[in-house]
Amino acid sequence: MVIPTVIFILFLYPSLTSAASNYNVADFGAIPDGKTDSSAGFLRAWTAACGSAGRSTISVPTGKFLIRQPVVFTGSQCKSSGVMILIQGSLVAPSDYRVLGESTTWLSFQCVTGVTISGGILDGQGGSLWTCKNSGKGGCPTGATTLGFTNSNNIVIDGMTSINSQLYHIVINGCKNVKIQGVKVSASGDSPNTDGIHVQFSTGVTILNSRAATGDDCVSVGAGTTGLWIENFSCGPGHGISIGSLGKAANEPGVKNVTVKTVKFTGTDNGVRIKSWGRPSNGFVTGVLFQHITMADVKNPIIIDQNYCPDDNGCPQKVSGVKISNVMYQDIHGSSATEVAVKFDCSSEHPCTDLRLQDVKLTYKSDQAALSSCSNADGSSSGFVVPSSCL
Ligand SMILES: *[C@@H]1O[C@H](CO)[C@@H](O)[C@H](O)[C@H]1NC(C)=O
Ligand SMILES: *[C@@H]1O[C@H](CO)[C@@H](O)[C@H](O)[C@H]1NC(C)=O
Repeated sequence: MVIPTVIFILFLYPSLTSAASNYNVADFGAIPDGKTDSSAGFLRAWTAACGSAGRSTISVPTGKFLIRQPVVFTGSQCKSSGVMILIQGSLVAPSDYRVLGESTTWLSFQCVTGVTISGGILDGQGGSLWTCKNSGKGGCPTGATTLGFTNSNNIVIDGMTSINSQLYHIVINGCKNVKIQGVKVSASGDSPNTDGIHVQFSTGVTILNSRAATGDDCVSVGAGTTGLWIENFSCGPGHGISIGSLGKAANEPGVKNVTVKTVKFTGTDNGVRIKSWGRPSNGFVTGVLFQHITMADVKNPIIIDQNYCPDDNGCPQKVSGVKISNVMYQDIHGSSATEVAVKFDCSSEHPCTDLRLQDVKLTYKSDQAALSSCSNADGSSSGFVVPSSCL
């Protein structure tokens, strides 16, 4: 009785015969033909990998794997100390946007520790949903974020590409110690709400050597983000790198210790932006460095906008409670697509304090003089600053 059982298991899961800690999704029923729903196969591979002690690897071979259902990879039952997911092929969402419809996230990791995603292409097939949303006819579902990590620690996303997400490409929510490197996200410049990387309620997130070309913010930074480091990044098309929108809620944790360094913006709506709702809130932003940044044809290269209130709805006094302080803009140059290249539009109730401009040179178009505009903004400038500072 014992022998046939063992043979049966080895037959079903041949990977067990080689390295016990390597799990190939093809051995768990995933089929790279672009047509067969492989979500259950991926989940079975995850259960096996996360259930094995020590470090394990999930291999995703070349080819297209249709992942037709939203998949949640949970870590709460894991025995493994870390799972590496090595992707050679691509994961493809269903092309009919009604299938994922209102599911928040297509590929969701929750409460995991030590997960690395290396390589691969995630294709959200968002095109038809964007067309629906852009038609203005209404009745379109929200769509799903492509990849989400929630309440997770020690995460690495390395060399992965996300294309055509329905909604956000990557969301980091409630996480500690996340490294995103060599990642590319791309979606059409007119695709609605396709933020590249959104970070919130998270500590110690590093984004290196990556690029985003998309229809919304390249990186958006939500409430409760501390210790965020972005370096060697390129953005465009897109809405720029945005801290915010903050202060929609009356009660929210602040944003602290953010470094954005060596970034190139090309043809974006904004460069470096801080944005809050014109609503009461105890939120704040402090300790931000924007450094070594080039702007090419950017509509609002440097902007603080504390009067955000789409459709003028829900902002009774039109005053933001969010306190912005200690923000440094250092070595920023290039061209603005509009005349006002530097705009600090701060809260009348809580003026911005300690804004600092150092070595800033921005022109309107390639060679015309740009302007700066300040309201309720306090701070200083040093070095060569053009347009001259209004602080
Ligand atoms: C600020 O964040 C960086 C990582 O981005 C971290 O290394 C540093 O320790 C943080 N500083 C403080 C004072 O928390
Ligand atoms: C940024 O890019 C430069 C040049 O490609 C490279 O030398 C440097 O190591 C990168 N920085 C990081 C933090 O990866």
